[in-house]
Amino acid sequence: MKFENYIVEQTQKTLIALTQMRKPKIEKTFKYLEDACKKHKINFVFINTPDWYVDDAIFKNKVILKNYTTNETIKIIPSNTTVLSKRMDNLEGNAIKKILQESNCHMINKDSISGNKYENYLIFKKHNILSPATMLINNKTEDDVISSKNDKAIAMILDYFDNKFPLMLKTIPGSRGVGVTMIESGKTLKSTLQTIWQLGGNILLQEYLPIEFDIRCTWLGDEAVLGIKRLKVKNDVRSNYSQGAKISRYDLNDKEKQIVKKVCNILKLEWAGVDLAIVDNKHYILEVNTSSDMDFVLDGTDLGIADMFVNYIKMGGKHGNRE
Ligand SMILES: Nc1ncnc2c1ncn2[C@@H]1O[C@H](COP(=O)(O)OP(=O)(O)O)[C@@H](O)[C@H]1O
Ligand SMILES: [Mg+2]
Repeated sequence: MKFENYIVEQTQKTLIALTQMRKPKIEKTFKYLEDACKKHKINFVFINTPDWYVDDAIFKNKVILKNYTTNETIKIIPSNTTVLSKRMDNLEGNAIKKILQESNCHMINKDSISGNKYENYLIFKKHNILSPATMLINNKTEDDVISSKNDKAIAMILDYFDNKFPLMLKTIPGSRGVGVTMIESGKTLKSTLQTIWQLGGNILLQEYLPIEFDIRCTWLGDEAVLGIKRLKVKNDVRSNYSQGAKISRYDLNDKEKQIVKKVCNILKLEWAGVDLAIVDNKHYILEVNTSSDMDFVLDGTDLGIADMFVNYIKMGGKHGNRE
């Protein structure tokens, strides 16, 4: 039997989920996507990228992905295929992603210029989008941690925030609320920064907004399709679902939809979760998530974001699948 007879050809519309997971358990988000794909009769292909490679032996006008351990082989038909990558930053994964993109698959967020929390803050500032005042705090060498130069840095920070407290402190790579904390007064600013400088890593300090909840807005295609109100967790400053926040549906008004649209158009996003905070009827962007978790909207509510997403790709995506 010829080798190609073993290949599963993706003749149906297909959603490929690219990820990089250390644990074997499939993340809930992917389970929801898989179920939604079943419902919409779309192939769901889950690729945990450390287990796969691109078979370049038969690599002319097609993309063949092969699993190292199971020998499972998949032939991708780019015109049928949408690719969503999530929590992935490994070399082999990026190679697979690149070749799928070059082959003209429909790549979700292909043109995105969304970066980390600080880069996005600067972009928001440039475009007059309201967002809490934010200052990047650079990493320091060990010798610098107790240097008197730091007193100057502390003075600059106090000046930037007009001596106002509390401040929010966030690690740059943090997500799901991890890495977000509050500095309540000037008493702990210097000692907290020294602790972080000693441990290493970049952080940012941010103006605190007096809010009881934030709103996670889901952006899909060219529309804010869903709002979820997330109440701050009791005895916590965060309102992440992963931290136990209570959630409920929130009807986005036109103004809110317009803000989300502006942000996602600037960042060139097709699929995102935009966190909004409202203070005195003013809307602030707290952050933009581009690999937005869908778990929370499905756990305990029936809002069906995975269903919406899969239906969207079934209908051909924003540009009828391709530009
Ligand atoms: N500037 C702020 N003022 C008040 N609350 C904030 C502020 N920034 C973040 N929070 C709270 O902390 C949560 C997590 O912050 P966020 O920047 O979204 O980090 P993550 O990427 O971990 O979700 C937000 O959902 C919000 O409830
Ligand atoms: Mg967040």
